[in-house]
Amino acid sequence: VSAASEPQRPSWFTLRWREGALELLDQRGLPEREDVLRLRSAEEVAEAIESMAVRGAPAIGCAAAFGIACAAAGPAPDLAALRGRLAEAEQRLARTRPTAVNLFWALARMRRELDAALGEAGATPARVAARALAAAQALLEADVACCRAIGRAGLELVPEGARILTHCNAGALATAGYGTALGVVRAAADAGRRISVLAGETRPFLQGARLTAWELARDGIPVSVVTDGMAGFLMQRGEVDLVVVGADRIARSGDVANKIGTYGLAVLARAHGIPFYVAAPRSTLDPETPDGAAIPIEERGRDEVATLAGRQLVPAGVPVRHPAFDVTPAGLVTAIVTEAGVARAPLPESLAELLRRPA
Ligand code: MRU
Repeated sequence: VSAASEPQRPSWFTLRWREGALELLDQRGLPEREDVLRLRSAEEVAEAIESMAVRGAPAIGCAAAFGIACAAAGPAPDLAALRGRLAEAEQRLARTRPTAVNLFWALARMRRELDAALGEAGATPARVAARALAAAQALLEADVACCRAIGRAGLELVPEGARILTHCNAGALATAGYGTALGVVRAAADAGRRISVLAGETRPFLQGARLTAWELARDGIPVSVVTDGMAGFLMQRGEVDLVVVGADRIARSGDVANKIGTYGLAVLARAHGIPFYVAAPRSTLDPETPDGAAIPIEERGRDEVATLAGRQLVPAGVPVRHPAFDVTPAGLVTAIVTEAGVARAPLPESLAELLRRPA
């Protein structure tokens, strides 16, 4: 597709490097406020990831890469001091959120790049800093290209007129741009298919209601918001043709960790004979993790569940549970769409084969 025939994209961004700082659209304020944060240190980037100002597996990875670039940027007396600062920044960023493997993937990529830069003849702190920034920028650009390729690969799964249920936000806001699950949606819309999206609201952080609805409405793609509990009813009534979600980590077995509530949708989809698709870049595949039971699941704090817009929803003293992700067993997944193609059962073999394909 030539640039001239590309559909108009909205004028917002998820994250970008501008004038010495990482700029982020602060996702906590959406859809009411479109505030931009300017972050200049690895610590600030780590806090933005922890507090969900930026979220979504690939976006977290990209933000962390720029966090390393921030750590590389300040004045350093010598290479040893810079090396120490980079190691500290990496450790800090790695402690932010445990489930999305893209974070660790991006940090490992940056470490390899910067180890090479530090070891070069004639290396100086300034040269290493320039290399860090270039590497983070390359990662961001590759992520957008990757999402577009996921969209193209997923086109075959989306029939004309499809009513698509998604969960959480696996869109442009969760990546460097275009999205994974919403990349498939965008590609179908770009191909002229008259599709519509049901965005599950996604308690407790409401990524579906606040973010998916916001970005699809901005793009002119038909979207309605439903509460999480409505999915089964709508499937039973024949109002859902397919489900597509993103992923935070996919184990070697094909088990998929994604936003809490995803597993329930997969069970419902199976019960109603509806295809359940996962769209993710290969950086979300974690061959080191054998199966879903080995995926670390983040537990977040009480307040996100027990309060809403400043109101107490749960009586004082009553405990809440807050696992932020769940694991969908490979057997419930119809197919996994990556930038290198579509994997189907048996998932362990087809995912391993996709990983061997060239970038
Ligand atoms: O807690 P979040 O908002 O970071 O969780 C996001 C998700 O679960 C997404 O579905 C996943 O990261 C894929 S994003 C392309």
